Formats: sequence, C-alpha cells, structure tokens
Amino acid sequence: MCGIFGYVGANQAGGDIILDALRKLEYRGYDSWGVAVGANGHIDIAKHAGRIGDAVAELPDAPIGFGHTRWATHGGVTDANAHPHLDCTGRFAVIHNGIIENFRGIKDRLLASGHQFHSETDSEVIAHLVEEAMADDPNRDLISAVREVFAQLRGLNAIIVLDNRTHQLTAVKNVSPLVLGQGTKGLYLASDALALVGHADRIHYLEDGQMARLASDGVTLWSAETGASQPPDFQPLTLTANDTSLGIYPHFMIKEIHEQPEVLRNISSHYSEPVKELAALIRESYGSFLVGSGTASYAALSGSYLFSRIARRHVNFTVGSEFKYQEHFITDRSLVIALSQSGETADVIESVLAAKQRGAKIAALVNVKGSTLDRLADFSIPLGAGPEQCVLSTKAYTAKLAILLMAAHELNGSLHVARELLWQAIDGIEQAIAPDSANLIRAIAARIVQREHAFIIGRGLSYPTALEAALKIKEVSYMHAEGFAGGELKHGVIALVEQGTPAIVFSPNDETRDDILSGAMEMRSRGALTIGVSPVNDQIFDEFIPVADAGDASPIVNVIPAQLLGYELALLRGLDPDKPRNLAKSVTVK
Ligand code: AGP
Repeated sequence: MCGIFGYVGANQAGGDIILDALRKLEYRGYDSWGVAVGANGHIDIAKHAGRIGDAVAELPDAPIGFGHTRWATHGGVTDANAHPHLDCTGRFAVIHNGIIENFRGIKDRLLASGHQFHSETDSEVIAHLVEEAMADDPNRDLISAVREVFAQLRGLNAIIVLDNRTHQLTAVKNVSPLVLGQGTKGLYLASDALALVGHADRIHYLEDGQMARLASDGVTLWSAETGASQPPDFQPLTLTANDTSLGIYPHFMIKEIHEQPEVLRNISSHYSEPVKELAALIRESYGSFLVGSGTASYAALSGSYLFSRIARRHVNFTVGSEFKYQEHFITDRSLVIALSQSGETADVIESVLAAKQRGAKIAALVNVKGSTLDRLADFSIPLGAGPEQCVLSTKAYTAKLAILLMAAHELNGSLHVARELLWQAIDGIEQAIAPDSANLIRAIAARIVQREHAFIIGRGLSYPTALEAALKIKEVSYMHAEGFAGGELKHGVIALVEQGTPAIVFSPNDETRDDILSGAMEMRSRGALTIGVSPVNDQIFDEFIPVADAGDASPIVNVIPAQLLGYELALLRGLDPDKPRNLAKSVTVK
C-alpha cells in the first residue's frame, strides 16, 4: 500500500505542506517518496528512494500539488520508480495507490504507439493513458478523460491526476481509500484522514467509483459509472494533533502499547449495545466465520476459542488469504465477521466481497471509520482505539479481543462477567507496562538479543497468543520467532531446540498449565532458555515474567510482555520499531 496526499488552495509552501502530510502517511509505505507542484506553467518534481526523514523538497510555492510515499510492488526501490510520474508532454502528473493488474498489456500498447516510459512501475501507464485520452482535444474535460482511463484499469486502485494547464486535481478510487478534506486554506485529498489534521476541518470519504475534481473554484464529485454529479457528504474531522503526534513517547509503538488500558476502559464501559447486536447476529446466523489477516487473524482465532469455551458456540476461523479456498460453505444464512485495524486489507476485503456474493451477512470490527470494510459491512463496530500509526498492531489487537470476549459472554448471558474480567485485564496491563515490568523485559531482551531463533508455545486460549507473540517479535526485530501449539512440540518442532534457544511459555492459571509446563520441561531438557509468562512462577522457568490472572481475558494481558519484548529487541538491534523493513501498515494488495 502507499500513502497519497494532494491539495489545491492558497499559494502554499508546496514542498513543505506535502512532505508534512507524507510523514504522517509513511506508515503506509516508506520505500520512496515524491512531491510535485504545479507552478509557473510547469510541474516541478522532487522524488527519492528511501524514507523522508528530514528531507526538504526544494520546490516553489504553488497553488496545487501532491505527493506519494511508496511501498514497492512493480519495479525496484529507485528514484525513477518513485511517484509522481509524468506523461510525455509534462502536462499531467499522476500518483497511485494499488495494483493495476492489466498494466503489462496497456504498457506494451503505449510503447508501441511511441510513448516514452521512465520507470518500471505499473502506475506510470496512467499518466500516458491520460495524455492519450486528451490528445485529440486538449481542452477536453479532464473528468471525462480520467473516467475513460480508470475504466481501463483492473484492480483495486486510487489515483490522483494533476493537470498543470487547468490547475486541478482529479481523483477516483476503487477500494483503495481516499478522503476528501476541506479547510480554510484549501481542499485536500489523502489516503488517510490522519494526514488532513492541521489542514482540513471537515472530510468526506470517497465512495468506490466516485470521482473528485479539486480546483481553485471548489470541489465537485461525480459517479465514474454514470457521470452524474454527487454532492459531498462532509463530516467534521474529529482527529486532533494529539492523536497523530508522538507526545512524550520516542516511538508510536510504545505510545500505542501504553494506550491500551484507556482503549479497553472505553470498550468495557461503552460497548454493551454494539456487542449485543453482534451477539444477536451470531445467534441468528447458521454458521459464523471470523476472518482476518496477520495480527487480526490471531484475534479471530482467539475469538473462536472464546465463543467455544464461554458460549458453547462454534464460530469458525479463517485466515483472510485462505478464505477464498474455503468459501463454498458460505450461504445466505452465514455471518462473516471481518477483523481489521485498517479496514483496507485486500485479502479480507476479497473474502467479504465473496461472502456478500453468496448472500452472507457481514459484520466488521475495524479501527478506521469510513474504511472499505467499515462501509462494506452490514454492521460495523469501531474498535475506538484511536489512530494506530506503528506498522505493528498492538492496541487494535487487544481491542478486538475485548469486544469478542464481551460478545461471547453476551451470548452466554453473562456480559457482566466480561466487564469484570476486562477490568482485571486493564489492571494487568497497567502492571505489565509499569517501569519495573519494563525493566525486566529489557533485561530479558538483552539476554536473548543475539539469538537467531526463538520459540513460543501456548495451549488453548494461549495458542493464538503464542502466534501473535511470535509475529510481534519477528516483524519488528527480524529475529526468527515461531509460535505454535505446545502439544505440537514432539511432532517435529523440538528438533530445532539448541543450547540457549529462547523458549517463551504462556502458562496461565487454566486447564493448560500442567501440559504446557511439561512441554517447557522437554524444551529445557534439550538446552532451551525457558521464559515463563504466567501469574505463578515455576522452577522450570529460567526467566519469569509475572502477569495478572485475568481468567478468559488473560490473552489480553499475556500479549503485553511480547509486545514490549519485540519493542526492546528492535531497539537493541538498532531498528526503527515503527517502520520495519519491507512492511506497510495495511496490505491493500493481494
Ligand atoms: C500486525 O502487527 C502486522 N502489521 C500485520 O500482520 C497486520 O495485522 C495485518 O496486515 C492485518 O492488518 P489489518 O488489521 O489492518 O487488517
């Protein structure tokens, strides 16, 4: 996925305003960046491989401009492949988020007709297609030209075209997000409302197939399908600078870890109604399916355990990218519950669209209002976690667990129990992030930081926690961490244990304790360094991380040490915990 931002308005410090916005969007992709402004009759561009950092775009003040942060899909990480891309005449510049699945054939045709390309990207074909659509009549309305071009593109895309002759931005999207903003100084477009903070005071989420033209005389919207004009439905921008800034924290990851108690207090106190509605949908369905990717998939898997042990209800779980290979059992009586922080994960969107095709009802737990999944769902519960800007998901994960725990207890007629457990979990998180606990985690991180592999085991409710813990550690520190069901040790995995191999053991006070401790013993007898995460210590542990006993809410508490361990390992390895290599905050391409 990529970050895109554009503005039309008062003559502004073009490069600065755009770079400021792109820094807030870099979590969406940070392989390269680029800025273009339209001034003095031509388009000036500054673009470079690498992160923005303290870069300055030496560009003139301009009344129109846009910029892009890239997560490379087609073409390497080079200056030439950075967006924006120009057409042959230099009149049009384009930025793009998504994948043009049929770009190769389009590019071959354009090359054959003499167009000169300067990049390996799929995105550059858009600039040349616009040039081609305007060639016969340079005064043609750009909206109709872009509409014609967009109809040729296959895939999930959002594009913005800058026309320096008419000084306008024309945008259109299909699933990839675009938010329109209006402020006192001008009009804006961005991939995420975060980037509009400080610029716009009201916003409108573009619908799929909706086109927008931003010019000095205002904004107009059209349907790309019918060409009919559509009035924007502006809503106040509620995000503030506090939501998007680091505040007292050195990184978003540690800030967002520390925000979890507040997020859970809000859910525990104010989510009874949406939880009851979710529970009713599950009760009425004939087959419910939790779907998510990455961290969201581990929340979904946790949910299947919670609904089983609390509500005696079988709620299936499927990884987003695998759903399409199993969707045959979906009927018009099914309920698909999509879990997603961004609401833009392509695999989950694809699963939801396939389920809707089969008549299923869709519920969603998403953190971004107006996101694609938020709008595709028949019923959507906002996680209310606030912007999650670290590429790693932390507070959105525990927010999903809290809502699923409440829904399971609502099905069981014991919602009050869930609320009590959540308050225990909140206290447990407060303890887990307190300085003493943080110092313990830091010491353990220092003890294992040189290791290449780490194994994490859990059983029952702690099995998804083991998977999530492994993901936290590996994606931020690049240490190979593998999570697996404790009972699987003897089926091959234990062959990997060597002297000093870190073995993190989740052993809550539940029915899994004895068996997981024997697993720990088997690993330790083969040289592993056992690290117990438990309310109760045991002689089998070489290191012990005490955590509160929160009953069925323990997965919420138990994941905190893993989040912190990943963070400390990244710091010890000199890595940026907010932007790990090769990753992006939301995987909006398959
Ligand atoms: C989580 O730490 C990862 N960054 C990644 O697995 C993420 O959870 C996954 O891509 C799903 O994202 P979503 O919640 O926005 O759908």
